[in-house]
Parts: sequence; structure tokens; C-alpha cells
Amino acid sequence: MKNSIGLDKEKVKVLTDKLNDLLANYQLYYQNLRGFHWNLKGNHFFTLHNKFEELYNAAQLSIDEIAERIVTLEAVPLHTYSDYLNHSTIKEHKNVTTSHDTVTKTVSSLTTLIEKERDTLNSANDAGDESTVDMMTQLIAFQEKTIWMLNSFNHK
Ligand SMILES: [Fe+2]
Repeated sequence: MKNSIGLDKEKVKVLTDKLNDLLANYQLYYQNLRGFHWNLKGNHFFTLHNKFEELYNAAQLSIDEIAERIVTLEAVPLHTYSDYLNHSTIKEHKNVTTSHDTVTKTVSSLTTLIEKERDTLNSANDAGDESTVDMMTQLIAFQEKTIWMLNSFNHK
């Protein structure tokens, strides 16, 4: 059985479940970045305060793209905080204030997102869904580059 955009419904179900899992993780990543932006202390305040703002703004755009892709694929995007908390592998970070810890936790979250995006990309390939493949490819490339820069920042 095909859906309205000509993709196999069962394969798309596997894909939209993964996109929803990714969406939940993005929401935790996003809110953690807001906390880092607000609570950071120390010599690197101005640099990282701005960097975290740049990253959460990018995340907010990605969140909307992922959610709207899920709707386009005829599924319902997760849209409540309780669902996000239940589905996310990335955990909440509370009272993290040092530049080292905020950057380390951001890198770790990005690694989690990339792993999930690669898995989602494989399911999108399996469903013949090149739009989602393209979306995942772009997210992965951006996050790999961000990890490089954050690791360089934290280098001793
Ligand atoms: Fe701000």
C-alpha cells in the first residue's frame, strides 16, 4: 500500500517513528542549549553565550523541518513535553555553568543526534524517500562540523 506521495506505508511508518524519536531528542538538545545560554559563567561567557544562541536557533529551524516532514509523511509529530521526555535519549541538563561542561555536553548530544540521523537516513533510503535522506545529510554535515569546532574550543 502506497501513501499519497507514492511511498510504501509500512516503510514510512518505520521512518516516521525514527523521525519522532529524533524530534524528541532535538527538543531536549534545544532546551539544554537555552539553559547553557542563560546559566554560563566565566571567561568564555560572551563567546559561548552567542554560540549557544546560534545553535539553538539552528535547532529550532531543524525541529520545525523534522516535524513538518513527519506531517508530510502522513503521521503525527510528537508535540508535548511529556512525550519528548519519554522518548528522548538526550537527558535534561540542569545547573551546568562552566564552559568546559556546557561544551562537552553539547558535543555528546550532537553525537547522539548524528547517530540517530544516520539511522533515520537508512530508513529513509529503504523507503525511497530522497527528501528525508537529503534533510538528514544536511543535518549530519552541519553537526559534524560543529563538533569539530566545539572540540577545538575545549582542547587543552
Ligand atoms: Fe538570549
